[in-house]
Amino acid sequence: MAVLCCATSAYPTHTLRVTSAKVSVCSSSRVSVPQLHHSDSPFVPEVNKAVDSLSKEFREVDNLVARNTARVLRAFQRVKVGSHCPTYSEFEILFLSVQWYTISLLNMGNQNGLSYGNDIDKHFGGSTGYGHEEAGGREALDQAFAEIVGAESAIVRSQFFSGTHAITCALFAFLRPGDELLAIAGAPYDTLEEVIGKRDSGGLGSLKDFGVEYREVPLAEDGGLDWDALKTSIRPHTKCALIQRSCGYSWRRSLSVAEIGRAINIIKMQNPGCMVMVDNCYGEFVEDIEPPMVGADLIAGSLIKNPGGTIAPCGGYVAGRKRWVEAAAARLSAPGLGVDCGSTSGDIMRTLFQGLFLSPQMVGEAIKGSFLIAEVMTAKGYKVQPLCRIKRHDTVQAVQLGNRELLLSFCEAVQRSSPVSSFIRPVAGATAGYASEVIFADGTFIDGSTSELSCDGPLREPFSVFCQRDSSSTAQLCRVVFLPFAGHENDIGWSTLYHIQEHKGGEEGCLDMNIRTRNPVVSSKNQANGRLKTDPPLMLSSLVQAS
Ligand SMILES: Cc1ncc(COP(=O)(O)O)c(C=O)c1O
Repeated sequence: MAVLCCATSAYPTHTLRVTSAKVSVCSSSRVSVPQLHHSDSPFVPEVNKAVDSLSKEFREVDNLVARNTARVLRAFQRVKVGSHCPTYSEFEILFLSVQWYTISLLNMGNQNGLSYGNDIDKHFGGSTGYGHEEAGGREALDQAFAEIVGAESAIVRSQFFSGTHAITCALFAFLRPGDELLAIAGAPYDTLEEVIGKRDSGGLGSLKDFGVEYREVPLAEDGGLDWDALKTSIRPHTKCALIQRSCGYSWRRSLSVAEIGRAINIIKMQNPGCMVMVDNCYGEFVEDIEPPMVGADLIAGSLIKNPGGTIAPCGGYVAGRKRWVEAAAARLSAPGLGVDCGSTSGDIMRTLFQGLFLSPQMVGEAIKGSFLIAEVMTAKGYKVQPLCRIKRHDTVQAVQLGNRELLLSFCEAVQRSSPVSSFIRPVAGATAGYASEVIFADGTFIDGSTSELSCDGPLREPFSVFCQRDSSSTAQLCRVVFLPFAGHENDIGWSTLYHIQEHKGGEEGCLDMNIRTRNPVVSSKNQANGRLKTDPPLMLSSLVQAS
């Protein structure tokens, strides 16, 4: 097995001195850091070459990060994000609140239509129970998010389980019996199949169960939108057009915001009343504009992807037109409860704010990582999507590996190179929401977070791996270098090229596990109705044994 040697600057032109002797981490036979001399580069020549050749692209990414960070910063400043300040007594807080309120009235502080009200120092305080006692954090986060994506309104909540959940709330916000949902970018992401009723949900309440029809406009041959078909695609009862910005598990191009804007114009020309909803997963901050700025009525996504900045522990968002955001909120909670309830602890509130602030930077690192993967894997003869040096529209880099074994080995190698659960060998299995067997590798601090280093892929032709991102392109770089595809080093021909330490046989301390379900034993016996039953006591004991 190969190990990650070290991480250093994203631009590996300097040499590195590591004077310590070989350091064993975790299990001595599995992970160790080799000694590097000052003349050594931590990167092999091909990677050095790739980085050198990407300096223009990296500079553009830096500029993008600067523009997006400035936009986020402006929004945070405008909504006056403030931390909880325990040194104030309640009386002082009351006094300051009154004083601030008076000043803001005099200054017409709410002239932008935003009421910043009693936001004094409590944004990270969170709330309990119904969440009615929330002191402004929830509202500030929603307002900041809405401003950042150019929407009238937003709801950013830890209570969204995932991107699929947020998208589902958004779809159920405006689709009613007799309406039609039209996916205009080909098949939507796998987990939406049961939501739509494209795949049987077992009578659990898909859109189809509620009498909502569904249709798709297949992608054009070049993997982009079929513009000609789109011009005549909207029917009188087409209530919503769904656009998936990122590629999902398809070998297709991700869409630019400009393309989304062009599609929206074509849709609205046919029927101005047709809503446009964008699945924004993996697209946030990859450009300096977002779909609501080009007319999308609603967008939705996950906080354990781009906008959580690697530190939001959970959650999702819906943003867009106020009326529909409220309706989506009513799906999340209940009609009548809307956006003004639901508690979130202070710890989480802070990470949602901080994660959003860090997000442009993390997305920038992910984009650099995707450029590197594309460059190195292309040089190795693999097909990649997007192609090398093509402007990115999401943070996903797909690599066509061509067979099941290579896909499994790739994911295994990524898992082994991860900071968390490196001792686990990911195995493919059934996962809730997915029809195909899927393999996930995410040795991440946040369970399932694809904001950190992760990759996954469905075990189906053409056996592509989808590398979502890494919070550090440097680390990504190292991992690209050190991906040995366990057991396939010779096929790839890398093991002699790179600073790799071979892990000698004996997978002691290694635990096989479906990373997403955390189920260590994946067999047909564990599956019921296509879902895996997990067995926490077994899982725990296996982990204890493994460590
Ligand atoms: C384009 C796209 N949409 C939706 C989803 C579903 O997100 P989640 O896994 O958070 O439910 C994904 C997941 O990877 C995706 O790639």
